[in-house]
Amino acid sequence: MAEKKEQVKPLAPAAHRINIHDEEAAVPLEFATGRHGKCIKCCGCSAAVLLILATMIIILMFTILRVKDPVLEMNSVKIDGLSLLYRNAAGFHPGLNLTFAADVSIKNPNVASFKFDNTTTFVYYDGAVVGEVKSPGGQARARRTLGMNVTIDVAVDKVLEVGRFKSDFDAGIFPLSTYTRISGKVRITDMIKRSVVVKMNCTMNVNMSSQGVQDRICRRRVSL
Ligand SMILES: *[C@@H]1O[C@H](CO)[C@@H](O)[C@H](O)[C@H]1NC(C)=O
Ligand SMILES: *[C@@H]1O[C@H](CO)[C@@H](O)[C@H](O)[C@H]1NC(C)=O
Ligand SMILES: *[C@@H]1O[C@H](CO)[C@@H](O)[C@H](O)[C@H]1NC(C)=O
Ligand SMILES: *[C@@H]1O[C@H](CO)[C@@H](O)[C@H](O)[C@H]1NC(C)=O
Ligand SMILES: *[C@@H]1O[C@H](CO)[C@@H](O)[C@H](O)[C@H]1NC(C)=O
Repeated sequence: MAEKKEQVKPLAPAAHRINIHDEEAAVPLEFATGRHGKCIKCCGCSAAVLLILATMIIILMFTILRVKDPVLEMNSVKIDGLSLLYRNAAGFHPGLNLTFAADVSIKNPNVASFKFDNTTTFVYYDGAVVGEVKSPGGQARARRTLGMNVTIDVAVDKVLEVGRFKSDFDAGIFPLSTYTRISGKVRITDMIKRSVVVKMNCTMNVNMSSQGVQDRICRRRVSL
């Protein structure tokens, strides 16, 4: 047993020596830890800071910088020239228009501006397009609401052509619908951008006796 211990003892330093030999390259490093400990701490700090920055950037990308859908709204509609429809009974000049003035707004909830190029609004009467207008593009600034007045000329002739005109005329109520489509782009950075198409479909009743619009219901849809 004692012999074995004595045999083991010389081996241990040998093994230790071998270890030291193996880690010869590591020894100066261990010295270095003593001398340049600050540097290694620094590296650790830098890594931690980088990690925190990366995490913050990812959080920003997915929360604050997340591209949100612009919201299209129709605040009011006014129709001029409804009396032309009454005059029709006594005969009117063809080519007259009803003028739709719709106050439309685009609410941009993004931290970047929403640039849009094409705005198209249609007016439907019993499924038929009686009016159409293309408005020029624009820009809704970050976290702002852009107001737009869309004016659409609706040809009285076209309204008269619609099959149900007579019965609606007698009832004094015209059910109309409008459809607005805006296509554009929200660009936060080159990496974070999205093409957005905002659509709004409104139905309303035009009351002949009050010359106004009532029962307005709008549905919004957004697609990429
Ligand atoms: C009716 O609208 C059309 C299309 O916008 C226009 O060309 C025409 O001049 C208008 N007619 C009248 C009488 O304003
Ligand atoms: C905008 O309208 C023009 C002309 O109607 C068309 O050529 C173009 O493709 C439209 N752009 C978009 C993004 O829909
Ligand atoms: C739209 O029209 C309304 C009423 O005519 C006016 O108060 C508003 O300032 C107009 N908005 C824009 C953006 O021209
Ligand atoms: C607008 O919505 C109504 C009711 O949901 C629908 O009947 C109509 O086809 C829609 N029009 C367009 C242009 O999407
Ligand atoms: C149309 O407007 C008149 C006057 O404001 C009102 O008395 C009538 O109830 C309205 N018609 C309908 C169908 O709502």
